[in-house]
Amino acid sequence: TSSLIGIDLGGTKCAVSIPDGDDGVREVARFASDKPAPTLARLFAEIDRLQPGDDVVFGISCGGPLDAERGLILSPPNLPGWDRIAICDQLTRRYGGDARLMNDANACALAEWQFGAGRGTRNMIFLTMGTGMGAGLILDGRLYEGTNGNAGEVGHVRLVPTGPVGYGKPGSFEGFCSGGGIAQLAHRFWPEALPDQLTAREAATAATLGDPVALRLWHEVGIRLGEALAILVDVLNPERIVIGSIFARCEQFIAGGMQESLRREALAPSLAVCSVVPAALGEQIGSHAALAIARCHLRPVSTP
Ligand code: BGC
Ligand code: NA
Repeated sequence: TSSLIGIDLGGTKCAVSIPDGDDGVREVARFASDKPAPTLARLFAEIDRLQPGDDVVFGISCGGPLDAERGLILSPPNLPGWDRIAICDQLTRRYGGDARLMNDANACALAEWQFGAGRGTRNMIFLTMGTGMGAGLILDGRLYEGTNGNAGEVGHVRLVPTGPVGYGKPGSFEGFCSGGGIAQLAHRFWPEALPDQLTAREAATAATLGDPVALRLWHEVGIRLGEALAILVDVLNPERIVIGSIFARCEQFIAGGMQESLRREALAPSLAVCSVVPAALGEQIGSHAALAIARCHLRPVSTP
């Protein structure tokens, strides 16, 4: 049996994990990821301490766009400065073994499917709804990655001609339904706030206190989310949609608007068989996701 190491490379932090038993994970390090060179230096130092053998398998989870086949990170919108970084080559040159790079949303979909809110399904969509908006598609009992690994870049889809900017596009799904997008929306709802003063977290706190402006803002986020979900429901006919991060924390403020537009926009027979639920893996999802990549590299997962 090889040793597995999971690397979750996010916009603000990088986490390194190892397996704990058959399906558990243990995070062994977490550090800032804002610049490639210092992050890689720290990553190597942390992996050195684990003394991996040359049968090691690395699973690297990272926001796209990526060239998964060549193991290249291709300047993702949420990792500024990370342009054409050959992370898999760098790891295998130093440690031997094998390395597999995968889109973070795809990896989270695998993790929620195997251990979380997607268990037992054959057709499931995972949506990140955090710093960015990305999807992982489990179709017919396996992860669907597309022709070159870029399936599920739903954040790039434009919902309306103008609006908050996400993935470099105004009015996109990521523009309305991500941390940065919701902060932009918040400035429209509270125009007197100084630039960069408001965050999605503050908008959530205000809603918790019953602030009517905040509740209207989250209603709009829900409406846009429901419109995007309706497209996924109509095209893919999933049985479950699992949503992470912001949805898992703010479902109570989002659900009303989301159900309203979903009912209005999606085909009734498809909607009737689809449930929308929050992710179940919480803070550990990134580590589970990174290790799921390494595990499925050894033994591809699919339902019988
Ligand atoms: C990226 C996706 C990623 C998502 C979540 C988006 O901005 O383009 O590839 O899955 O953020 O990190
Ligand atoms: Na994806």
